[in-house]
Amino acid sequence: MKVLVAYLSESGNTEKLAKAVFEGIESSPKEILLIKDVAAVEDYDVIFIGFPVQSHSVPGKVEAFAKTLPEGQKIAYFATHGSMRGGELAVTAFYHSLTISKNAVILGTFGCRGQVKQSIIDALMPKVEHRAWALEAQGATGHPDEADLEDGREWAKKMIVKARVR
Ligand SMILES: Cc1cc2nc3c(=O)[nH]c(=O)nc-3n(C[C@H](O)[C@H](O)[C@H](O)COP(=O)(O)O)c2cc1C
Repeated sequence: MKVLVAYLSESGNTEKLAKAVFEGIESSPKEILLIKDVAAVEDYDVIFIGFPVQSHSVPGKVEAFAKTLPEGQKIAYFATHGSMRGGELAVTAFYHSLTISKNAVILGTFGCRGQVKQSIIDALMPKVEHRAWALEAQGATGHPDEADLEDGREWAKKMIVKARVR
């Protein structure tokens, strides 16, 4: 089964998680690429798509990439975010990822916290649309940590098992 991990990462958090997800994939051949470097998408049985949550949603570049995928493509989404793991703010971004992939087969999603620079928290805190996550983001220091990365590896293994039966 041919597997691709394609991701966007602006400050390195999602890249760490992408590498852990890649390690967890027990299938070959497998490839890991920045979304901007993906040349052809037709070839893959499963595509893992990684992104940093931005404004409670999926960054535009990632959305544009997801929309190029063929109908019926098996996808698994993963993300890092400043807000709490499994919390409503993070889940909102995953809901959005599902709406942009209507014609895909979604195998699952995984999210963990990703550290946010204090200067960004300070700048966004006064903005009403960012305040909720900026408050939560103060607790994301040190993430993703080794426990997050291990969970990412385990999740990737499960996604591959699921892909084989779907
Ligand atoms: C402009 C901007 C907007 C962000 N918006 C959110 C948000 O809405 N919710 C959230 O939980 N985290 C938000 N974050 C935090 C990032 O999702 C988090 O730090 C992530 O781990 C960054 O990943 P990266 O290092 O791969 O770019 C935002 C960060 C930036 C810079």
